[in-house]
Amino acid sequence: MSRSPNLEDAYALSSKQDVKDLYRDWAHSYDTGFNDAQGYQMPRLVAQAFVAAGGVGPVLDVGAGTGLVAEQLIAAGVSVIDGLDLSDDMLAVARTKDVYRGLYAGDITVPLALPIVGYQGVVSAGTFTLGHVGPAAISNLLDVAASGAVFVISVNAAHFQSAGFAAQMDTFGDQIQGLTLSDVRIYDDRADDAHRNDLAHLMVFKKA
Ligand SMILES: C[S@@+](CC[C@H](N)C(=O)[O-])C[C@H]1O[C@@H](n2cnc3c(N)ncnc32)[C@H](O)[C@@H]1O
Repeated sequence: MSRSPNLEDAYALSSKQDVKDLYRDWAHSYDTGFNDAQGYQMPRLVAQAFVAAGGVGPVLDVGAGTGLVAEQLIAAGVSVIDGLDLSDDMLAVARTKDVYRGLYAGDITVPLALPIVGYQGVVSAGTFTLGHVGPAAISNLLDVAASGAVFVISVNAAHFQSAGFAAQMDTFGDQIQGLTLSDVRIYDDRADDAHRNDLAHLMVFKKA
């Protein structure tokens, strides 16, 4: 791709290879050309919700990308953060920031093979969205969390509806506790007209 990717490109992805190719092209401009330019709020909102729910480390940041969530978690006082992402190129940018204890390449749509399990927290911003990851992956995240672990996962509101997140969350029954959903704007007023009012549902719950 000769130009930098944009949100329309990201929402239209349809395979794992598409994801890797897009984020290879986006990794080096993501923080300035996307995060700053669009007023992307999810990393800060996810970190704040995690702390408000009593979340502590060690925490797994799922779809960690360039490390924006870890930067916000650290600013909010959380320590010991591991990151997991499908894109080696995004992880390479995250690595330069020195905000993660460990960084792992992996696909959350299949059972995870991490050297560590029993996380006290699991967070994710911007990964459960159109063209990316559907609700079934949450089961793989529950498997690597300790009992009582705090989960904060942002889900694009349109994707929540079309991919059936509500029905998937119902299947977890008493494996999860205290599920709440709140609506937040994904971007602030810097965003382009097409996305200024895009919403996410912030899902907060604990593993039983
Ligand atoms: C929009 S970025 C969000 C990055 C970061 N969390 C943030 O908020 O800036 C989405 C990230 O999800 C990752 N991703 C997409 N599909 C994935 C999968 N199946 N497993 C793990 N990571 C995935 C992408 O590589 C990308 O880094």
